[in-house]
Amino acid sequence: MREEEYLQSLHFNSLRLEDGSIVNMSLPIVLAIDDATKEAIGESPDVALAGQGGDLVAILRRVQIFKHNKEERIARTWGTTAPGLPYVEKAIDPAGDWLIGGDLELLEPIKYNDGLDHYRLTPAELRAEFDRRGADAVFAFQLRNPVHNGHALLMNDTRRRLLDLGFKNPLLLLHPWGFHQTGRRSLGRSDGAAQEGEFHFKIKSFVLEDGVLDPETTIVAIFPSPMHYAGPTEVQWHAKARINAGANFYIVGRDPAGMGHPLEKRDLYDPDHGKKVLSMAPGLEKLNILPFKVAAYDTAQGKMAFFDPSRAKDFLFISGTKKRREPPSGFMCPGGWEVLVNYYKSLQAK
Ligand code: ADX
Repeated sequence: MREEEYLQSLHFNSLRLEDGSIVNMSLPIVLAIDDATKEAIGESPDVALAGQGGDLVAILRRVQIFKHNKEERIARTWGTTAPGLPYVEKAIDPAGDWLIGGDLELLEPIKYNDGLDHYRLTPAELRAEFDRRGADAVFAFQLRNPVHNGHALLMNDTRRRLLDLGFKNPLLLLHPWGFHQTGRRSLGRSDGAAQEGEFHFKIKSFVLEDGVLDPETTIVAIFPSPMHYAGPTEVQWHAKARINAGANFYIVGRDPAGMGHPLEKRDLYDPDHGKKVLSMAPGLEKLNILPFKVAAYDTAQGKMAFFDPSRAKDFLFISGTKKRREPPSGFMCPGGWEVLVNYYKSLQAK
């Protein structure tokens, strides 16, 4: 982004296009550079972008360099400057004091060579796949955590709702976050990240194999965006990006893109604000938001179900799954659970 887009994104969570229309854009997409790089660029109009190995990946044309006011960016994006926000610590604090924007020309698709590249479908590739399968509705599900049966409940319930509305072939885009953000060169991946990505995808394949989700009506792809944990601000980006990829329904549940407050014992954002904001966000008027109540483990039924406050004591909120030795049966498919346990064991062994 150049400064004009950056300011619109920060202040309005949206961009005005040349034809006057408004699109949602709640997170600035920017590239930070340090003083030395700014110096080296000087008055050059075009700048080459290289990957970790030094290979040329893109050209930024007609560049503009402007001040990176980190405090303002953080405060406006997260609504707080409390220390301990993961994205701020990894990607903003260590970054340079300047931002460079321009027209981005990608030279070829970026490959990570971690065995998962075939899941990194572009918006155009996703649209083509929905057409190939003859979808008359596409509903998207964003997630960062391993799929458990609470998530599956939201997805399967959505499909039922869409069939009830008269759609004949609604397809699910299961679109987990899969971007590695440690280190400043975000185009590369460390072994740890590759391992984590693999672990997430192994669980997903079990979810499909075990029949929790139907492979015929589900498309799994990686959402190649860094997780900001910016709650209601970020969830607008999550939804907007999926519209670009062809989705027209977006599922949103409890506390999307939220996290615990880094200093206090409470959620950073009101868990209901994500869905409220989405339903009113500028530039997202065309998207159909499918809001969901919180799901929890219902001990009376032995499965994940929507929380019923009239019998609150029957429900178990399972957080920090890795801390638990065994999940109650019905929390997650057994194959997926085994992958989860082995992954965390391997981390402990290190
Ligand atoms: S997110 O940060 O990627 O949005 P997560 O992976 O935890 O979060 O969840 C994916 C989606 O499922 C989000 O829309 C979230 O609101 C929803 N969700 C997660 N857990 C629950 C739950 N227990 N009840 C209802 N919705 C949930």
